[in-house]
Amino acid sequence: MSKSRKSVIIMTHTLPRDWIVSLESECQIFAGLPDATRFEEKLVSYLPSAEGLFTLLTIPIFEDILEQAPFLRVISNMAVGVDNIDTAACTRRGIPVGYTPGVLTDSTADLTFALLLSMARNIPQSSQDARLGRWKTWLPAGWLGIELNGSILGVLGMGKIGKAVAIRAQAFGMKIIYTDPSEQEITGAQRVSLEDLFRSSDILTIHAPLTPDTRGLVNAKTLSTMKPTSILINASRGPLVDTNALSDALRTNKIAAAALDVTDPEPLPPSHPLYALPNILIVPHIGSATQHTRKMMAQLACENLLAGLHGERLPHCINPEVYKQ
Ligand code: GLV
Repeated sequence: MSKSRKSVIIMTHTLPRDWIVSLESECQIFAGLPDATRFEEKLVSYLPSAEGLFTLLTIPIFEDILEQAPFLRVISNMAVGVDNIDTAACTRRGIPVGYTPGVLTDSTADLTFALLLSMARNIPQSSQDARLGRWKTWLPAGWLGIELNGSILGVLGMGKIGKAVAIRAQAFGMKIIYTDPSEQEITGAQRVSLEDLFRSSDILTIHAPLTPDTRGLVNAKTLSTMKPTSILINASRGPLVDTNALSDALRTNKIAAAALDVTDPEPLPPSHPLYALPNILIVPHIGSATQHTRKMMAQLACENLLAGLHGERLPHCINPEVYKQ
């Protein structure tokens, strides 16, 4: 790079140095704490000169931030979901927004399957019983789970992650049904209506982005149409599921169990009644949390950021319409 002045960038969080090494020679980096839960006050003072913003999915980037950053040329979200960013406002301001699709598909599908197997075979509940001395003998009719072979997996959202989950499920002998707004047909899986998906799934797994159309899709009404033996898995975004409705459905055995990698609110406070139920497993949004994937996500986010700073098209841009104006 020939220019000597470094571009000012804000990183909402400090990340391991070897994940972001590509930024060092070109950027003057102002970074927040590794575990920041909001856009830190100390970073706000750099907004008026910031040219790039590297952020995580937990930090809302809306007009209040954008209007303070007149020189911002690129925003890079280290996530595949971008519901934390007002992308329409970014487009109006001519700012491309980068995201990180692809690299987290397998790790998120693996985690989904870990949740699915855990609940299908009562692993958290039976492990707790063993720990608490409730394992007195081999019980012929105790801790009975669902046989995956022949069971129906409903996939709500057949994007990259939904497909990767379906491939894993097929290897376990499951039948796959799905809904997806795109027209594409998926080999070995049957497209059904949303009503049928809720009604027919033995296990329903959610892999749709959070949009106005998907918010609250799993609610008291849709939960009431599910089989009482069914299991719900959510590894997408918390607000797709109405938390109180899910709590009620689990408490009154309208469905058998649920496993959540994402919650609404997120994090779910430890005092929340959901944690008191025996038939739920909650993990702290760890879908993409493998060493390999997180490093790849950071590197992709750096590539997006650098492309934006160079005035080039981002390799992965969520609002490509920004280039038409
Ligand atoms: C994780 O939830 C992501 O969107 O990358």
